[in-house]
Amino acid sequence: MKTVLYSVILVILLSLLHEHYFLNSWKVHVTYPECIPLRKRNLPLLVVVPFTKKDWYYIEKNLRLYSSYSPCSTNFDGTVDILFWFHRNWTEWDRNRTALKVLFESEQLKSCFRSVLVGSANLKPNEDLYYYSFLKLSHYSPGTCNMFYPLFKKNFIRNGYDYLFIMEPDVSPIRSLWLEAVHNETKGKVFYQKGSIAQYAKRITTQHDYHINGNALYRIGDPCFDRILETAQKTYKDAPFDGALHALRMNKRYHAWMRYYSHLFIYSDFILNFGDNTFSEQHILDKWPNTFLVHGKGRLNTSS
Ligand SMILES: *[C@@H]1O[C@H](CO)[C@@H](O)[C@H](O)[C@H]1NC(C)=O
Ligand SMILES: *[C@@H]1O[C@H](CO)[C@@H](O)[C@H](O)[C@H]1NC(C)=O
Ligand SMILES: *[C@@H]1O[C@H](CO)[C@@H](O)[C@H](O)[C@H]1NC(C)=O
Repeated sequence: MKTVLYSVILVILLSLLHEHYFLNSWKVHVTYPECIPLRKRNLPLLVVVPFTKKDWYYIEKNLRLYSSYSPCSTNFDGTVDILFWFHRNWTEWDRNRTALKVLFESEQLKSCFRSVLVGSANLKPNEDLYYYSFLKLSHYSPGTCNMFYPLFKKNFIRNGYDYLFIMEPDVSPIRSLWLEAVHNETKGKVFYQKGSIAQYAKRITTQHDYHINGNALYRIGDPCFDRILETAQKTYKDAPFDGALHALRMNKRYHAWMRYYSHLFIYSDFILNFGDNTFSEQHILDKWPNTFLVHGKGRLNTSS
């Protein structure tokens, strides 16, 4: 019995030694990506506004805000569509077509977007959940996951666009020409995700606070990024997708291939994430000259 115990301890010690001292010097070899990111195809940008019944209030508020913060100038030459992406069955919810009218008759949307689209995710009640688990001390949102991951599989999106911009209803502009600014961000080098680090806490307390918030630009129709998305979904299931993408990038198990793609995940300041905390519009205007959009419900000093 004792011999078995000693052998086990010896094996553990040897493997620790191997892992920590010998791995790098004995087994150094360079590997190369299996999957090469695709070039851009010069396709338009798609803005996706995922929303639930409860969010309609924010959408109406934003449409009013767009009169003071116009999405684009009259000589904007970018091609952008906008998809209002409803969690349930839109036709059933908007029976009298009041909401459809509000969207289709918005002058700001008409003048800056090529097409205003409306789509239904048709989630079933058990797919449409958003809650905080006190057992696991984390957020679970199968609802947002079921609204997000399937977008990358839709043929009209894969074939029609290079990037999509997720803009939840609690994202609002603080400067005019915000759509042009977002469009400008898609020019230049290809990337997979571009958005904001957490700005809401006084200091960064957990690794999660380094995540790029979900309200971001994403590459569309690239098989390498699709594989990353699929792995994030499979590994972290119902965890919020932005946290899942971050956790995947930080997960040692995937270092071997994440290092080929880490330069394609970009922190930016065209949008800032304030989460649930209050923030002052004036301070952002003063301190963040490149910021056009803010994410969060705690905005102070809104001028309309
Ligand atoms: C959505 O609702 C409409 C109107 O009630 C109905 O005709 C349609 O079949 C529904 N769609 C789905 C996918 O359930
Ligand atoms: C449409 O329905 C909504 C609520 O379902 C109601 O508030 C609104 O007044 C209706 N509009 C018209 C034009 O009937
Ligand atoms: C977008 O880029 C163009 C060309 O570089 C520049 O003239 C314009 O000011 C930019 N727009 C915004 C809103 O940043």
